[in-house]
Order: sequence, then C-alpha cells, then structure tokens
Amino acid sequence: MARSWRPDVPIETHQLLKHGAITACELIPWGSNYTFCVTLRFDGRQDQAVYKPRRGERPLWDFPDGTLYRREYAAFVTSQALGWPFIPPTVIRRGPHGAGSVQLFVDSEPLRSIRALQETVDLDLARIAAFDFIANNADRKGGHVLRAPDGKLWGIDHGLCFHIDSKVRTVLPHFFGQPVPASVLTEIQTFRNDRARVKGLREILGRSIGRDEIDALLRRIDWMLAHGSYPSLNPYRSVPWPPF
Ligand SMILES: Nc1ncnc2c1ncn2[C@@H]1O[C@H](COP(=O)(O)OP(=O)(O)O)[C@@H](O)[C@H]1O
Ligand SMILES: [Mg+2]
Repeated sequence: MARSWRPDVPIETHQLLKHGAITACELIPWGSNYTFCVTLRFDGRQDQAVYKPRRGERPLWDFPDGTLYRREYAAFVTSQALGWPFIPPTVIRRGPHGAGSVQLFVDSEPLRSIRALQETVDLDLARIAAFDFIANNADRKGGHVLRAPDGKLWGIDHGLCFHIDSKVRTVLPHFFGQPVPASVLTEIQTFRNDRARVKGLREILGRSIGRDEIDALLRRIDWMLAHGSYPSLNPYRSVPWPPF
C-alpha cells in the first residue's frame, strides 16, 4: 500500500524536536503569549527551538481556548502540503510546562522596516501572502517574517490561523486584489489535484483543528484558484496593530 503523505522533514530534525531532551528553557519576553526558547538534545545533536505551551496561551475572545499551539502545527503541515517549506519544522509534544508546539529556531537578521519588507521582491513573499489568505492568518506582523543570513524568508507565529470567519490581518496588504504569480498558482493547483496529499493533509489536520475549519481552508484554496488573485480585503481593517 502506498505510504500516506506526510510533511517532509529530515528524520534527525524530527527526532530532535519530537524526542530531544529539553536542557534549557528561557522565556522570550516580547512574545504575546508565554513563549520559550529551549535547547534540545538528541543523539549527540543540539539545537534551539521555540516552545509554546498550551498553558501559556493568553485567552482570546474569538479563538477557542487552548488551541493556538495546535494551529501552529496545523499551519506548518499546511505549508508543507502546499510545497512551501517557509515555516520552520514544528511538532506537538510535552515540555517543562506541559503540551505545546515546538518549532525549530531560525537565525535571522532584524527586519529594517515594514516598508523594506513590502518592497521585497521574492516569490516566497508572494507564497507567504497566499498562505495567509489560505490559512486565514489573523496575525502576519512585521516580526513574523524572518530573513535568514542566506537570504531565505521564513514565516513564524501561526497560532491565529484557520478560523472559519474571515480574519486576515497582514502587513502585506499590497498583495490585496493583485494576481497571484502564475508559478504560485500552479503550485496551489498541483496540491489541489494531488488526492493523496489532500487526504493526508485532512487526516493530520483532523487531529489539530475542526472539520469545519478544514473545509473552510479548502474552500479558500478553491476560491484562490478560481479567481487567480489575492482577495481585495479592506487595507485599513485587515492590517495588524501594532504592525510589529
Ligand atoms: N522559529 C523561530 N525562530 C526564531 N525566532 C522565533 C521563532 N519563533 C518565534 N521566534 C521569536 O520569538 C518571538 C515570539 O514568538 P511569536 O511566535 O511571535 O510568539 P507569540 O505567539 O507569543 O506572539 C518572535 O517575535 C521571534 O523573535
Ligand atoms: Mg507574535
């Protein structure tokens, strides 16, 4: 029988994140929730990761309590299913403060300004903007796009994704109403046509978010494919505050 679809993460990275011993755990003071930088060790390898325990989540009026860490994981899996590995490898596991998400730490250079981000011409930014609509990301702040020293763009902080009501808030409103680059659209279509990938995604997401949220996700994908553009959202209402 064919093996079902799974995120493509090197086995050593997966084992480190999922089973590594947590040898240090320090609060990141500027997170909006209790977010920790942890050191993980497994089989002679050591790396840092960002641990977000369920217990450290600040309650919100519009998202069900205790679900943000699962949304972090669901966002990672969705980006993988789309073939867009811009979210650092993420797992769900237990840590010193109980169950939470654990995401590989990526080194990055500080972002100079929102304008510098908006002026970045990079297909990965177009993918991130498409992802934010597809995943209904309510929290794409300036500090949630990181540029690694090698130039690669990473996206972090996806706890506020997958709501069934439209919630997009992003510092990338210049994409609103614009055509989605043809190659990005092809990638989305390729995912949508791949039944094994769609089925695998549904199965994995079914353990992290609601079935209605998964259906809404697929509807947004179909909307984007039918229109070939980013939605024309309100550029005043659909930006986060503060922008960083
Ligand atoms: N994978 C990561 N790699 C590097 N830094 C990260 C990563 N995830 C989070 N951070 C850092 O931790 C801070 C808080 O994380 P964030 O995901 O924004 O948490 P919160 O949900 O608390 O807002 C970020 O602003 C960033 O500086
Ligand atoms: Mg944040």
